[in-house]
Amino acid sequence: MKIQENISLKNYNTFGINVKAKRFITIESVYELQKLVETEKDLFLLGGGSNMLLTSDINKLVVHLNIKGISIDSEDENNVFITVNAGEVWHEFVLWAISKNYGGIENLSLIPGNVGTCPIQNIGAYGVEVKDVIHKVEAIEIETGKLVSFLNNECNFGYRNSIFKNEVKGKYVITSVVFKLTKKEHNLNISYGAIKDKLALKNIQNPTLKDVSDAVISIREEKLPNPKEIGNSGSFFKNPIISKKQFNDLKEKFPNIPSYVVSENEIKIPAGWLIEQSGFKGKRFGNYGVHEKQALVLVNYGNANGQDIYELAKKIQTTIKENFSIDLEIEVNIIT
Ligand code: EPU
Repeated sequence: MKIQENISLKNYNTFGINVKAKRFITIESVYELQKLVETEKDLFLLGGGSNMLLTSDINKLVVHLNIKGISIDSEDENNVFITVNAGEVWHEFVLWAISKNYGGIENLSLIPGNVGTCPIQNIGAYGVEVKDVIHKVEAIEIETGKLVSFLNNECNFGYRNSIFKNEVKGKYVITSVVFKLTKKEHNLNISYGAIKDKLALKNIQNPTLKDVSDAVISIREEKLPNPKEIGNSGSFFKNPIISKKQFNDLKEKFPNIPSYVVSENEIKIPAGWLIEQSGFKGKRFGNYGVHEKQALVLVNYGNANGQDIYELAKKIQTTIKENFSIDLEIEVNIIT
């Protein structure tokens, strides 16, 4: 546990942005973290760095949370409760669960990032959100160093949202997440069209957890850039939710507009479609741009500057507003 100075963060964020941390520390246990917060309160927390766009050097102490470990707390015939420490890589945990035949997270295969950050934005894909399997979240309160728990219903989970992005933002460091997974009679979610197609292609009628995971992995690999090859943070924007009235008006002008019903009066529109219709899909501006296969993903092709990518995001927001009167909300944390 040693504070280092002037460390490049290029390898610590999936966008691959090369900014510096003035001071940087790696934390490997809850005890080390408790010791640290006795004297340091103004922290910049870094997990897998998969949901942030860094636009300048970081003057706060950068805390790289690398607390490892997976353990089973309890189990019965049907379910297992598993504590996973914040520094575990999300996808490695998914693969571990599948190898033990524990169900519930197979649809969330290949999502970049660490376990400790998965509750913050309530990661989700293909009809599943991590809130569906989180029992509780354990965290250290920075002010007091105390270990506290947030039960699932105390996390205020929503679409790419939670209490950790709102009411208690900056007050806690998540140290572990306790998951409740199934041991049998798995509740498979294979309603998503692309998953169905993949399984049908392989002639699989009764898929296992691994079959579903493999299908998800191949869908993601086809559409989403691998951050190890092309820097990115997954979906840069949220899919906007608009009123039924606004949707009906848009539908008259754009009969092909895709949509999902959220509630009686709310419709979700895929932001990727709006961006593609506005001509940005695959657009490259020097060493950054909009991904060619999924318009919702902004990419760094080389040594791009975070500020340039942020300017592009703002340009996309303005254009979508002009074309569709829709406010696109940025999903990635912009670090200024
Ligand atoms: N679409 C386009 N052009 C594009 C991309 C999408 O027209 O370039 C339209 C198509 O109509 C397509 C629809 O959007 O059918 C949906 O696309 P997709 O299935 O790729 O999903 P998404 O709505 O773009 C969301 C999540 C992803 C998640 C997928 C699958 C958000 C912000 N994004 O994307 O999450 O993997 O669904 O469930 O909700 C992430 O958060 O980083 C992420 C990748």
